[in-house]
Amino acid sequence: MRLYLVTSNEHKYQEAKKILEDLDILFLKAPIGKFEIQADSLRTVAWSAALHAYKILREAVVVDDSGLFIEALKGFPGVYSNYVFRTLGIEGILKLMRNVEDRRACFKTALAAIVPPLDVVLEGEVCGTITSEPLGKGGFGFDPIFVPEGERRTFAQMSVDEKNKYSHRARAFRLFARWLKENFKL
Ligand code: IMP
Repeated sequence: MRLYLVTSNEHKYQEAKKILEDLDILFLKAPIGKFEIQADSLRTVAWSAALHAYKILREAVVVDDSGLFIEALKGFPGVYSNYVFRTLGIEGILKLMRNVEDRRACFKTALAAIVPPLDVVLEGEVCGTITSEPLGKGGFGFDPIFVPEGERRTFAQMSVDEKNKYSHRARAFRLFARWLKENFKL
């Protein structure tokens, strides 16, 4: 089976690939970009992107839509994480969090897949804390300022395998791997 991840983010592809590597599938990065609607739920964004990609490719597709939800900011940037990362960036978030004692935050992923004749939407989540400065050079996005529960290092200070032990994306993709195994006997 050929399965396309719809993303222009190489990091996401590498993280997901490690989780799916035991399955007998050809996991590829789609030759088209992710179509992103603005909506107030990750599930809606992921599902509409999967549907859009499937209509073009007519092959099995999977899309991940993720966001960082900061407790003290009432869930901001959440579904707007992509836009906020490109505009305010890490420094902007750290500025909003200056002198804020409650550093709790969660990363969430909604994964939508269309694998004919079936489809599915799954979720993954990891909670932790926001650091007071960026740490580490690995990963992408908000990785340098997020420390998952049970760790002292940020995602940016970890290898892909270490990040995958905790991450929202890895959790969603592990559920997806199980779903694929159960439904397609892979
Ligand atoms: P996307 O819409 O799923 O690409 O994610 C929105 C934004 O959330 C990205 O631009 C990143 O800034 C951030 N993000 C999503 N997943 C991660 C992650 O695993 N680590 C760090 N930042 C992430």
